[in-house]
Amino acid sequence: MSFIPFAKVSMAGKEIQFIQEVLDSGWLTTSVKTRTFEEQFADYVGVKYACAVNSCTAALHLALEAIGIGPGDQVIVPTMTFTATAEVIRYLGGHPVFTDVEYGTCLMTPEILEKAINDHPAAKAVVLVHYGGQPALMNTPGGEGIADLCLKHQIRLIEDAAHAFPARFGDRFIGSFGDATCFSFYANKPITTGEGGLIATNLEFICKRAKVMRLHGIDRDCWDRFTSQKPAWEYDVIAPGFKYNMPDVNAAIGLAQLEKAETFRQQRQRCAMFYMKELSNIPVIDLPVCIGPPEKHAWHLFPIVIKPDAPVSRNDYIALMTQKGIGTSVHYKPLHRMSFYHDFYRLDLSDFPNAERIWQGTVSLPVYPELADHELQYIVDTVKSILMPA
Ligand SMILES: Cc1ncc(COP(=O)(O)O)c(C=O)c1O
Repeated sequence: MSFIPFAKVSMAGKEIQFIQEVLDSGWLTTSVKTRTFEEQFADYVGVKYACAVNSCTAALHLALEAIGIGPGDQVIVPTMTFTATAEVIRYLGGHPVFTDVEYGTCLMTPEILEKAINDHPAAKAVVLVHYGGQPALMNTPGGEGIADLCLKHQIRLIEDAAHAFPARFGDRFIGSFGDATCFSFYANKPITTGEGGLIATNLEFICKRAKVMRLHGIDRDCWDRFTSQKPAWEYDVIAPGFKYNMPDVNAAIGLAQLEKAETFRQQRQRCAMFYMKELSNIPVIDLPVCIGPPEKHAWHLFPIVIKPDAPVSRNDYIALMTQKGIGTSVHYKPLHRMSFYHDFYRLDLSDFPNAERIWQGTVSLPVYPELADHELQYIVDTVKSILMPA
């Protein structure tokens, strides 16, 4: 058996054809393919506007900038996430307010959010993470979901859906709930553009502002400058913006990937369901908890938690899996443990009991469309041989 990597890109569609079209057009940077990608993605998730950029980090930064986050503003974020979710708040001079997550789902729950809002009534926004591709509880009939609470407390909701495409809550796609939702198309994400990201929103002012700020704060986009009658040099700079636009070469890959998004999701679900069934009788691990129907989950990650009474520690388990030819990863060392956030905000580990418990034992197993059945079988056999030695 050759090494089974933790992640692998699937590129079986029209990527080459669409890239060739871009190369033949002679225009490599942002224009027609990017616009088409934005339109198709917006249609897919059911929103009016989309702004494609060169990373989810850029998307989060622009979304927070567009809603007016600035120096001194507090923004609520879960600790169990990648640093990008919080660092963008710092880019703008704001302060992340970290919350714990629920054990089992690794999600911020409405109860956790409500407590954070009560403790920090001045907070202007929340960046919600759909951890591992699982949608958080967005709405309830009684108005107690996360989106409901944000409306009730008049706090902006920005979603970090880096893991969550395509994912649904109720009959709507993630992307259509908050003020803006940010997606990642980094190479290991559910669909990829190589590097890339996108803001999906129903609010025109967010998309308009993000499109100006993704290209230096210039009031006309590059394609418009070179195709319209108005001279290309006649433009205004309305703010000191950034250089975050998505080039057409990347959008071409994204258009091909979009056609496969649901097929990829189903293939990842197949891996997850196999693990759920085959690993359910190992007493020394906790499996991830799926709160909704599995077909609404994007299944970007399959994180298990190795309990303290297991025969090996999490780190030894990872080393043994590697020795047996299986790649794994850890999502995440929580942000309250990272020296910058920990020291700067004087955070206390005891304020994050669930994240602490998850962090001590968490390890993610491979989940991707091309994992063959015999590889999945080998992975579960290996997990059992390490955690349930005869
Ligand atoms: C939860 C989360 N948010 C944001 C990002 C940043 O995505 P990107 O690499 O596209 O900037 C990542 C990347 O891994 C992520 O996992």
